[in-house]
Amino acid sequence: MKIDVLTLFPSIFNIIIESSIIKRAIDKGKVEINIINIRDFSDYSNSQVDDTPYGGGGGMVLMCDPVFKAIESVKVDNSKVIMMTPSGSVFNQKLAYDFSKFEHIILLCGHYEGFDERIKTLVDLEVSIGDYVLTGGELPASVIIDSVVRLIPGVISEESLKSESFTDSLLDYPVYTKPRVYRGMEVPEVLLSGDHKRIEEYRKSERLRITREKRADILK
Ligand code: ADE
Repeated sequence: MKIDVLTLFPSIFNIIIESSIIKRAIDKGKVEINIINIRDFSDYSNSQVDDTPYGGGGGMVLMCDPVFKAIESVKVDNSKVIMMTPSGSVFNQKLAYDFSKFEHIILLCGHYEGFDERIKTLVDLEVSIGDYVLTGGELPASVIIDSVVRLIPGVISEESLKSESFTDSLLDYPVYTKPRVYRGMEVPEVLLSGDHKRIEEYRKSERLRITREKRADILK
């Protein structure tokens, strides 16, 4: 899979692509991630990329030309152009799975007041990461990269993905590691029993209990 990120703040992505599982996925050739500066596509003086909105109002608006040119520099037939915007569809695990099957995604990060509306003619999908407004699309794009890359086959074990939160409308079961007793708090006996059938039943009932308690809205 290839991910191209179009942004005015490329350095924000350094930590994401140089750390942990994402770095390993890049090193293993599971994903290629390119960070592209929209400003490099400005033909205006001082590499201008934004201007005041027609009709007045506060803030600055990202201009068509540098963004069109940046998108066109990477877009091919099978690309999906995804715009980060608080007015997009709210991102979730199902969308993360859908995105992980695409061959090429282009993540478009805005800043300031937003994008010139005409830029949307090049966009396949508008995505928000939640009902709050951030200063730019870089954190949302990082969230999408992280959640999508870990779902690419071979990046993390199938075992880890199988029963994690949201994959089947249930939150994850609780886990414990050594020591067996910590400050008087004991690991549930069933997990020490070696009885795999009982352990599986316990985990399933814990997933149901926790989901009912915390997120009844996602229970099917
Ligand atoms: N840009 C600003 N806020 C955002 C959000 N919540 N999701 C996606 N992009 C954004």
